[in-house]
Amino acid sequence: MCGIAGYVGPKNAIEIVFDQLKRLEYRGYDSAGIAYLADDHIEVIKKAGKLSNLGDVLLSEQRSAHSAIAHSRWATHGAPTDGNAHPHFDEHEDIAIIHNGIIENYHELREDLLKQGHHFYSQTDTEIAAHVIGDELGKGGNLEDAVRRAVKKLRGAFALVIVSKKEPNKIVAARNASPLVLGIGCGESMLASDIPALLPYTRDVVVMEENTIAVLTEEKIEILDGEGRQLPVQPQHIEWDLASAERGGFEHFMLKEIHEQPKVITQTLSGRIDSKGKVRLDGVFSDHVWAEIDRVNIISCGTAYHAGLMGKHLFEKLLRLPTDVYYSSEFRYGDPVLSPRSLAVFVSQSGETADTLAALKLCKSRRIRTLGIVNVIGSSIARECDRTLFTQAGPEISVASTKAYTAQVLVFALLALHIAQVQETPGVRVDEWVDELLRLSDLAEDALSTEEAVKAICAKVKDTSLAFFLGRGADASLALEGALKLKEIAYIPTQESPAGEMKHGPLALVDESVIAVFGATDASIVDKVISNVREVQARGGTVIGVTTTEDRAMEQVTDLLVRIPKSKFEFLSALLSIIPLQFFAYHMAKLRGCEIDQPRNLAKSVTVE
Ligand code: G6P
Repeated sequence: MCGIAGYVGPKNAIEIVFDQLKRLEYRGYDSAGIAYLADDHIEVIKKAGKLSNLGDVLLSEQRSAHSAIAHSRWATHGAPTDGNAHPHFDEHEDIAIIHNGIIENYHELREDLLKQGHHFYSQTDTEIAAHVIGDELGKGGNLEDAVRRAVKKLRGAFALVIVSKKEPNKIVAARNASPLVLGIGCGESMLASDIPALLPYTRDVVVMEENTIAVLTEEKIEILDGEGRQLPVQPQHIEWDLASAERGGFEHFMLKEIHEQPKVITQTLSGRIDSKGKVRLDGVFSDHVWAEIDRVNIISCGTAYHAGLMGKHLFEKLLRLPTDVYYSSEFRYGDPVLSPRSLAVFVSQSGETADTLAALKLCKSRRIRTLGIVNVIGSSIARECDRTLFTQAGPEISVASTKAYTAQVLVFALLALHIAQVQETPGVRVDEWVDELLRLSDLAEDALSTEEAVKAICAKVKDTSLAFFLGRGADASLALEGALKLKEIAYIPTQESPAGEMKHGPLALVDESVIAVFGATDASIVDKVISNVREVQARGGTVIGVTTTEDRAMEQVTDLLVRIPKSKFEFLSALLSIIPLQFFAYHMAKLRGCEIDQPRNLAKSVTVE
């Protein structure tokens, strides 16, 4: 999520790490900072906003250092301000650290440290990690010993990079689930969160393994395990050009973001399920408020609207809470009837969509409770809502939204379970849901293996004139999102609706030139779906089925089939089926030679009404 850079060697480290950060700009960020070793102290400079804000300060006077670390932040804890930007100091300003990821147990650690008299100047989890490492350093040993001991106390997914004023020509890094890449230069060493930042300086890199510590000096790089034992350093030579390196070797950001979904699921759940298997949502309304809410209105646009439809399924099925889903643009001009006890939920990746923001202001003027489900911390919708849950999906760059959708639906699931837990809703097995949610990342990883099968299907149907997307229940909501993806990037006309609606009109469009993608992940209604499959086939249409590995019914009738892993809950199986649907849009677009990351006429963030 965040950008990390570090350099130790004979050149001016400040210039190098700033240049490295610039090469990570495509990742998105909201603030940036740098720490370098001055004569007798660590100098830290940080600025909210654009990288040029930091650049202006750096250029304001002559500066040079032989070791420096730098960070561009994508906020997860605390607003994007100067104070919350990295690096952060420990209590005695002996060390400075930068961090990517989330420290899940930062609450407990903070409480302990406060009792010991520590002072904190930010709302970040990173500052807590800095104090834990600083304390360990105070107990003796060198910086890498202190980091090794400290990371044993930290829970979560993180990459940490640390400098110490007592060991000025050294950078120490620790990796636990968040990526870090080391660069081996000639008499210099460096590191970054992503390969592109290193390529102008070296093509010999080492991708750090899980739970290892790296020690960088200008002479060499050492890698240690959790017990301090040396591990072999095995560099690889990178041949990629810079542009493909930015995309992590993927041909497009969209493909990269589809593949990131297992990791995003873990990130979205991170810190939200406690050690007892309970859902823990910080920052939502107090428990008694849920009993007062008599209706939910979900308001959003595009892909976020489709995530809202999935939210409705959960709220109504699990909680029996009446829920409506509105397009933001319709809601604001529709003179909506709003119960004073209702809750308005605003879903937005960017947090800046003009129609959604206007609908939010309308609800606030009517004194309705508002809750945001937003990806970008510090965005307008996040700031305006009474409460906001962040999707924690990381920056999404491709215009066609993929990983943000999965994270939004997951947040709805967490929210529904949180309410069920608070209200002790009869019949909702929160523990079983939590088990399935914790398995979801692995299931999504398996769903990624559908790519080759989807690609083969695309080769057969790439010239279609019209694509239907159909399903029942949650699969009907997925059909809308699958269709949106295809038209957005492959420019193929689509017709999407609940499968049962076909015979009320759309069936008239079916002939030999069309395809129909049927979602059938819910075994309890598969027979009804099969009737609709036959209606399409009888008129010459080609049917592609998306079903689970346990299906034995769809395989008998469909022309082409994709199978995704089955979850115990139909809702989650349906959610997983978005992965092959995303691949379908991607590979159709590619075969038809379309621009994928920036489709014609569309924008990532629609800030006009
Ligand atoms: C645009 C984007 C879509 C997105 C929609 C809503 O149309 O291209 O991908 O779903 O806006 O954006 P939001 O940022 O509010 O989720």
